[in-house]
Amino acid sequence: MSRPRVLSGIQPTGAGKHLGNYLGAVRYWAAMQDESECFYFIADLHALTVSPDPAELRERTRRLIAELLAMGVDPERSSLFAQSHLPEHTELAWVLSCLTGFGEASRMTQFKDKGGGNVGLFNYPILQAADILLYQANAVPVGEDQRQHLELTRDLAQRFNNRYGETFTVPDPYVQKSADRIKDLQDPTAKMSTSRGGPGTLWVIEDDQATTKKIKSAVTDTGRDVVYGVAEKPGISNLLTILSVATGKAVPELEGAYAGKGYGDFKTDVAEAVVELFAPVRRRFDELVADPAYLDQVLAEGATRAREVAVATMATVRERVGLLAPA
Ligand code: TRP
Repeated sequence: MSRPRVLSGIQPTGAGKHLGNYLGAVRYWAAMQDESECFYFIADLHALTVSPDPAELRERTRRLIAELLAMGVDPERSSLFAQSHLPEHTELAWVLSCLTGFGEASRMTQFKDKGGGNVGLFNYPILQAADILLYQANAVPVGEDQRQHLELTRDLAQRFNNRYGETFTVPDPYVQKSADRIKDLQDPTAKMSTSRGGPGTLWVIEDDQATTKKIKSAVTDTGRDVVYGVAEKPGISNLLTILSVATGKAVPELEGAYAGKGYGDFKTDVAEAVVELFAPVRRRFDELVADPAYLDQVLAEGATRAREVAVATMATVRERVGLLAPA
């Protein structure tokens, strides 16, 4: 039996990945490398939907590669590549767009939430379906917000298979809920997010001092006891969750340890724990970004491996839909 194939993509937007992304997705990317054949890519074409500054997009793409490697994606075991290096993604997206109803695409909530915009944004989920189906992925680890895009992907795979014969693996979503558990430090009723950014977001890659300052300035609740209770104490509960995931200790154990102590000591410890959690990642990141030649080499090797699969899938697709093979 061959190993299950896992695929996921991440956009080079924002200042990088935050604590919630790390706990919800990227941590699993690294963990899945043992039992699965993994394809991980930077969705730079998807990022174009928000018209980033060109120099910034390039810089962010490189930094994100370094960040993923620092967080444990291993280029020896997994293919790590840039989406735009394989024209098969856009080619398959076109074929799939011809199988997608206009109404069907209009119902995608992420598009509706953005209140319209460019046609790229409208086509976004179809490109995402192409990303996944091109590699015949069995499992796609993503956050809850991507569930609807995964449903569309499955529908398109089945539709294609029914019309043209068995071609695509129908992928299973592997939805991570834990990312939503980490809340914004300044507004602990909202989840930590890239778009919000600001003093309530803890980036995986930032100065230790910045992390410490944000945690010490986190909004806390009335009272003085370090106890968990999302409704009455959203701020302290969020910090307890963060300390729990950073140290591996259960929340009740932590509550016991802080009985009789104030918020100040508690926050100091949360800050120290997060700094410690990210210390090896930050050290490794600094080494990696200082070596752009190595990053390029990783991307080139990743693209070579990805191309083997993508080219084969596209050859079948072209044949199935009736495109004349070039002589
Ligand atoms: N839309 C995903 C996100 O914003 C990123 C993405 C693009 C993706 N293509 C993908 C995720 C394919 C999984 C599989 O998080």
